[in-house]
Amino acid sequence: MTSDQIEARIDELLSAMTLEEKAGQMTQFFYFAEVDPESDVDVMGDLSSQPAMVERELAAGRVGSLLFCTQPSEINRLQRLTIEGNRHGIPALFGFDVIHGFRTIFPVPIATAASWDPDVAARGQAIAAKEARAVGIHWAFAPMVDVTCDPRWGRIIEGAGEDPCLGAAMAAAQVRGFQGDGIGSPDTLIAGPKHFAGYGFAVGGRDYDQSHISDEQLWNVVFPPFKAAVEAGAGNVMTAYMDLNGVPATGNVWLMQNVLRDTWGFEGFLVSDANAVRNLATHGLAKDLTDAGVRAVSAGVDLEMAVDDPAYAHLVDAVRSGVVSEEQIDTCVRRILRAKFQLGLFEEPYVDEQRAVEVLSDPTHREAARAAAVRTAVLLTNEPVDGQPLLPLSPEVKKVAVLGPLADAPRDTLGPWVFDFDLTETVTIAQGLRERGGDFGVEVEYAPGIRHGQRTFASMFDLWEGNAPVDPEGFDEEAEFARAVELAAGADVAVLVLGEWQNMIGEAASRSSLELPGRQLDLLDAVAATGTPVVVLLMNGRPLDVRPVMEKAPAILEVWYPGSQGGHAIAALVFGDESPAGRLPFTWPRSVGQIPMVYSHTISHEPENQWRRYWDVESTPLFAFGHGLSYSSFAYGDVNLSATSISVGESVTASVDVTNTGDRDADEVVQLYLHQRWGTASRPVRELKGFQRLFVPAGQTVTVEFPVGPEQLRYWNAAAHDWVIDPSLFDVGIGGDSTVELTVSFEVREG
Ligand code: GLC
Repeated sequence: MTSDQIEARIDELLSAMTLEEKAGQMTQFFYFAEVDPESDVDVMGDLSSQPAMVERELAAGRVGSLLFCTQPSEINRLQRLTIEGNRHGIPALFGFDVIHGFRTIFPVPIATAASWDPDVAARGQAIAAKEARAVGIHWAFAPMVDVTCDPRWGRIIEGAGEDPCLGAAMAAAQVRGFQGDGIGSPDTLIAGPKHFAGYGFAVGGRDYDQSHISDEQLWNVVFPPFKAAVEAGAGNVMTAYMDLNGVPATGNVWLMQNVLRDTWGFEGFLVSDANAVRNLATHGLAKDLTDAGVRAVSAGVDLEMAVDDPAYAHLVDAVRSGVVSEEQIDTCVRRILRAKFQLGLFEEPYVDEQRAVEVLSDPTHREAARAAAVRTAVLLTNEPVDGQPLLPLSPEVKKVAVLGPLADAPRDTLGPWVFDFDLTETVTIAQGLRERGGDFGVEVEYAPGIRHGQRTFASMFDLWEGNAPVDPEGFDEEAEFARAVELAAGADVAVLVLGEWQNMIGEAASRSSLELPGRQLDLLDAVAATGTPVVVLLMNGRPLDVRPVMEKAPAILEVWYPGSQGGHAIAALVFGDESPAGRLPFTWPRSVGQIPMVYSHTISHEPENQWRRYWDVESTPLFAFGHGLSYSSFAYGDVNLSATSISVGESVTASVDVTNTGDRDADEVVQLYLHQRWGTASRPVRELKGFQRLFVPAGQTVTVEFPVGPEQLRYWNAAAHDWVIDPSLFDVGIGGDSTVELTVSFEVREG
């Protein structure tokens, strides 16, 4: 259908629909039929009758959308109930948290950001979209594009870290991956960047807490990834839970109308986060549930995501009492119906259940997940032992001890925010090392050493079967600890997998500490005391306090939660079939006390990192933003500028020769940083303004170029309350991480 035909059909429907039917289209319900009835988690209250309530509402034509349905036969059944439940045959929109894979699980989003390769993000989301659409899901509540510089915040794992440049590239790439050639093209989903906006600045890193963000930080740091997602054509945006500078995002007219729609021209539909409309009353913005609905509609929130008792059910009264106009309601309903027409749901509302089975079992999806996991790993340290780096393992290594419960934990290997996974096909690190080692006569033995099933608190997501950490029946930690140490003592190398259980991070999983949980450090100490060299693989989604680890392990490889094929990918990296080239997407603090800490800070005193800004710890991070080592080595030539003086509005090209000085082919992530010397605001000591991950054969040199123009030079100025380019001198550095020296400069003259 052409867009004119769609609008004409929508006009017909709106003129025929009752107010109740319109309010129904604006209502999206969870469908909690897949919650584990045995779960001891009561964070969501008694959900046992929730599915029946939803089915009643569907049959009464009072539902426009559903979420948390993943089985094609169920989706088809509920879709039929929806279509037959309303007079106009309007189908339901099925949305879901397709965050980093659907059945084939890719590395967690923070890991994909660590690849510094937007193609990894795009490819992963394209496969996730194909799998999810095959089962009948139409829309992903992703990409999550919240910038954050607070690792205490559990949802750091869902985004792309602290930087707006990297974040914007990852956001746009994911939208392209989800939506392919455009909304409605085959095997694609509507992309729904979230959570608009400022959620990652929750005070104390406490999930859901308020955010106080200056206009300067909003426009220069928080907004760019959302703007990039909108410019990439995202068909949906999800609102945030928290209040931004005192006004709850979900009722925030300035955010949703002035910024999103009027400034950026967003034309898609807006959905609230779960119960975030009714929570406007909890916030104390709205007087009651009816007022909450009115405030959200006035902010332009088209669809209310709710567990039950939706606020939008009260819109009928609100229109009749004149508090909100039917035109406002029609505007919301129009955007929702437009998405359904664009997706072709009126013509083809059901899915082919046999085809779904074929799509979900496509082996090329598994290979893509393995390749992605290889590209996300970050080599943090690789100190030489007897003159040789421990990684990749030497061919002389014939016996490897793989230790720690996370080494053989399928559920943790997938990370949080996954639901339709297949644990039986998940390749753990121990399994991957054992298979790869076996191919080359290397004996690989595993021992957990310590308990895994420690649950300080249950996570909301333990509601779904298989999420809670468990230990094997009759686990005898003392005996297991001794067995692990014995294995280490008899091995050439001990590979110890340390990190956080996957339910310790994600939503409602912030932490007040960055310490390794459980007895992991005790295990490390005992293993290191055997004298066997130790390689540590980190399985986590936030920077952890690894200072004690660095004292005992010469080599640390950040492997994140690497997904369904993680074991194969990590084995290839550990044995050297692949070379790590990932880079940190955040500043890695030494301790939780340093938070928040970003590389792109301003400066008031020279030198930048005065020794004692804290009395008790250095003011520098443990690892810098953009840090990551390689199995090879790279040398950078001098930075060349195509001009040393331009006027405002013009561009200069910065270029550099990068040489692979090592003996093996490898990727390098070349990063461009800028610093504005003076102007009408204090500007960061450096900001990432461009990056390229590229393959450089051993001994070869490549020339890398970056444009530096208005897009890179402008910034939102709090005094001018607008975007400006200051005439100034700009320092430029190009290197392998954010500590690069800014060695050349160019002038920007008055226009
Ligand atoms: C959650 C999250 C949001 C998610 C939604 C549906 O509370 O905040 O990211 O998409 O509810 O699961």
